[in-house]
Order: sequence, then structure tokens, then C-alpha cells
Amino acid sequence: MKKLISPLDLSTTEIDQLLALADRIIDDPAAYAHKCDGKILATLFFEPSTRTRLSFESAMLRLGGKVLGFSSANASSAAKGETVADTARMVQCYADIIAMRHPREGAATAAAAKIECPLINAGDGGHQHPTQTLTDLLTIHRLKGRLNNLTIGLCGDLKFGRTVHSLIRAMMRYEGIRFVLVSPRELMIPDYVREEMIAAGYPFREVENLEDAIGEMDILYMTRVQGERFADQEEYLRLRDRYILDAAKMKLAKPDMIVMHPLPRVNEIATEVDDDPRAAYFKQANFGRFVRMALILTMLESKTDNRVIPENTEVLGNCQNPHCITQMEDSLPRLYTRNEKGVCRCVYCEHEYQG
Ligand code: NCD
Repeated sequence: MKKLISPLDLSTTEIDQLLALADRIIDDPAAYAHKCDGKILATLFFEPSTRTRLSFESAMLRLGGKVLGFSSANASSAAKGETVADTARMVQCYADIIAMRHPREGAATAAAAKIECPLINAGDGGHQHPTQTLTDLLTIHRLKGRLNNLTIGLCGDLKFGRTVHSLIRAMMRYEGIRFVLVSPRELMIPDYVREEMIAAGYPFREVENLEDAIGEMDILYMTRVQGERFADQEEYLRLRDRYILDAAKMKLAKPDMIVMHPLPRVNEIATEVDDDPRAAYFKQANFGRFVRMALILTMLESKTDNRVIPENTEVLGNCQNPHCITQMEDSLPRLYTRNEKGVCRCVYCEHEYQG
């Protein structure tokens, strides 16, 4: 596997192997300190990031490799109007593996489709964020001892929170997982994610009140309301403090529930919760580097390339999702896949084509 766009690009066996490798690196980091000697990682970050970019860079440096890249679109030729595919094509001449973050949904797919070099989606707008998911899976596995038979509460911005979309996709393949989706109506999960859960016959419940559901959760995954993705800033201000996890709400939770958050946190977890032994979000951030080390190593060794554009596509009109990469790049073909119900989805952002 040379392209990681969504967690579904990994089989559960590959995920198990990555988590096992991350465990071995945690136990004996010195044994991996020169595994990537002479290799270069390029971090192409068209959108601001602290944790993800630094954890990718730290991962490569700890493997003995080197890093280059940029940390904002202004510092790249995107500012001159270059397409993401052209940028990636050029960068593959300078690096062995690319980690790319972009504010547009589907940007990683558009870039990966045109290159040979391994590419990791480090977040494409409100769409997917598979390496945060690997971080989350390693955290769950290490702290709960299993990836099955868990009730997972996801709370906050489930519409624009790409970490939520990727985590649901990954966990849907394990036995006995039940999701409780806690959000205001305006920030419910996108249709493509809901449809996948329904098609898989997956148990989930959508509620608005955190207090009503917290008592049944083994894991509470809090998320930030993604202000930068709102068209209407007043709506953001109205919704941003809708859920604040504090000590009083933690009293309603199981004694062994863990609280996760991809970070950065804004107001959604009161700092008083940090001292609760159930708060796992800083441990989670630490696990991110180890799982990225495992991923970089595995992808550099992989001989098989995976398709990022499915085989049977149709060319239709413009995608109506205002956040899709095709809204920014006229030269991208308007490609769609059709499911058995006749619903067409954009191959880049996965939003439904309305005709
Ligand atoms: C998340 C992201 O970038 O989507 N952060 C991260 O990867 N650590 C969550 C967020 O920005 O809210």
C-alpha cells in the first residue's frame, strides 16, 4: 500500500501489523533509529498544523531520515495557482515519501492519483484524517486492551470533524462496536458516513444531549467545533460552546471510561478534567509519533501501489460540495462512482452528486 487516503485503504490485518510495529518501536526505539537512514520525508502542509506536522517530522527524524517541506500554502507555489497534483509530482523528485495536508476535501486523492511516490493524507479539509485514526486505534488498544466490544461516544462537530469520519470508518470493521453520536442538528455526521454505517448494518444512535448518554460509554471522543470550515461565523459562535466536558459531567461516566481528543482543544474540555485519570488526550498525542514511525517504515517498504481513483467512474457535471478540491481546480476531471442504489459520489470528496 503506497497511498493512504482513508482508513479503508488499510485492511484490518494491515492495521494490526502497524499497531504491533508501533508497540515494538515504543519498547525498543533504539532498534529503529537508523531504519530510514538516507530517506527523505516531504511534509506539504497547505493548512496550519502543529501536532500532525511535527509528529510526522519527529517520526522521520527518529527513524534516522531527513525532512523537508512547507507549513502554509503561502509558502508554496499554490499561492501562484499551481495544482496539488503538479506540486506533488515535482516534490516526488526530491523526497521518498510525502505527507500532505490541505484545506480542500479530496485534495490528497487528486495529488496521489498522479504520482508514484508513497503519499499519506494528513488531513483533507473536513473529509478524512487516517493517521489520526491510527493514533486513536493505538491509544484505544493500549489503554482499553482491545478494539472490539466498545461503546464509543463521539461528541461535538461531527459534520466537519475529519478525525470522526476516519475513526468511524476504521472501527466499523471490528466486532461489537456501538457508536453514540452526540451533536447539535447542524453538526451531524455527513450523509456518506451515515450511509456506510446503515449499509454495514452498524448500530449507532444520534443524540443531542451529552449527559443522557455519557454513562453508557467506554470511550468519549471529544472534538473541537471546526470554526475555519463554517461559511457563517455567527453559526460557529452560536455552536462552539455547545458541549463542555467538566468534572460534573465526568461524575456521570463509568469509572474506566477514557476521554480522547485529537487536539487542539479549545473550550470543549475544561482544564479541570486534565487531572482526572480517565483523561487520555495527552497520552494519545504521544502515541501519534510511534504509529507514524510504523507507517512511514511500512509504506517505504511496500512494493504494491493501490488505486486511488476507482475503476468504474463516470464523468458528470461539477461537484456541489463547496469544500471540494474540484471547486478550486478546473483541470480535474469531474469523476463519480455510482452505487447499487444509483447514488453518484464524487471520487475526491465523496459528496453526493445532485445532477
Ligand atoms: C485534528 C485535525 O487536524 O483534524 N487535529 C489533529 O490532527 N491533531 C483535529 C482538529 O483540528 O480539531
